[in-house]
Amino acid sequence: MAVETSADIETSGVDPDWAKIRKRFPVLENKTYLNSCSYGAMSTDVREALYRYIQDREERGTDWDYWVGRNESVRAAVADFLGANADEIAITTSASASINSIASAMDFTGRRKKVVISAFEFPTDAQIWYAQELRGAEVVRVPERDGYIPVEDFESAIDDETLLVAVTHVCYYNGARLDIPAIAEIAKAKGAMMMVDGFQGLGTFEFNVRRIPVDFVVGGMLKYLLGSAGLAFLYVRDELIEKLVPTVTGWFAQSDIFAMDNTRYDPSPTARRFETGTPPVPNSYVAEASLGIIAEVGLPAIEHRIREITAEIIAQAKSAGYTLAVSEDPERHGALITLRAHDEDAIVEALAAEGIVTSCRAGNLRISPHFYNNGDDIDTLFGALRKHAHLLV
Ligand SMILES: Cc1ncc(COP(=O)(O)O)c(C=O)c1O
Repeated sequence: MAVETSADIETSGVDPDWAKIRKRFPVLENKTYLNSCSYGAMSTDVREALYRYIQDREERGTDWDYWVGRNESVRAAVADFLGANADEIAITTSASASINSIASAMDFTGRRKKVVISAFEFPTDAQIWYAQELRGAEVVRVPERDGYIPVEDFESAIDDETLLVAVTHVCYYNGARLDIPAIAEIAKAKGAMMMVDGFQGLGTFEFNVRRIPVDFVVGGMLKYLLGSAGLAFLYVRDELIEKLVPTVTGWFAQSDIFAMDNTRYDPSPTARRFETGTPPVPNSYVAEASLGIIAEVGLPAIEHRIREITAEIIAQAKSAGYTLAVSEDPERHGALITLRAHDEDAIVEALAAEGIVTSCRAGNLRISPHFYNNGDDIDTLFGALRKHAHLLV
């Protein structure tokens, strides 16, 4: 099938050698791995980075400057792929930590106290914003309509009492992709700040903060950015950094980390003020390696490749008569394609028994490829689904 070739991919004149790249992900030799929305496959680069961490500990003992350097290198790499400056990036340990830091800096006592979220939010995002109701916020939740949320629904929810629009780019339970550039323009026009949770999208398509008027971007390394759990990040637009003073803080958020001043709070003038404590050192080694692969392959090639693979999944699902839980329009879905299931756990288990790794949420079978997948993976999946078709709608 078509997905195996890369001849039609235009990426600065160089077509990635997908078969060679695939070999850097050993799990693909043992499994049909289609669960990148949950956890990206581990590369040999990441494995080596983890060994290097162990080796460094054995050889160097304690070397804080070197470890802080690893964290700074991750900050620079994240800034690079978002089109931001390194000073606009905080390195955190989870999306929740990033969002909580911003939430703690928000003032809900003025006329603007609404936080507009969507039905597509990952639970942690929504829970953090609902928690702010204890501090005066008013959460406005935009519902979904048949698996999607059109821009008009945000247009009517955002008004001159909206302080922040905080929405996910790609929905974790059905793979729907919101029109973030359009929603961000509406937020801007109505004087509200805009946060996007890019966890399910970043690493699958280009996202440049200089082209889309977002104020905050939240993301993490463990899914399509191919790193590990325990390392996440936050972009904050430079004009906002010094206006926001988080009360969720710690020594790594201070102007001078090593001042060791326990008499006052002196937040950093950069986005580091949204960090808290000691960085997750092993995860920084991993992130350096995994962001290196993303940069090497390049987001235009990755995006194109994922479009080909997801189009093939949609085509095979339709020809088998399964029910898609997400739009087939590539502008309206991410790398995650979902099928309605009668018994979501049973279908995931049946596939696992055949060495196919998927996952489920909200009655949907989640199929989430990355650039390392190929046409054979999709054929294997649909061959197995045929045997268990009674578990699908
Ligand atoms: C959209 C989205 N946001 C956030 C998270 C995770 O948040 P945290 O890093 O706080 O666990 C996930 C998945 O785990 C997600 O899919």
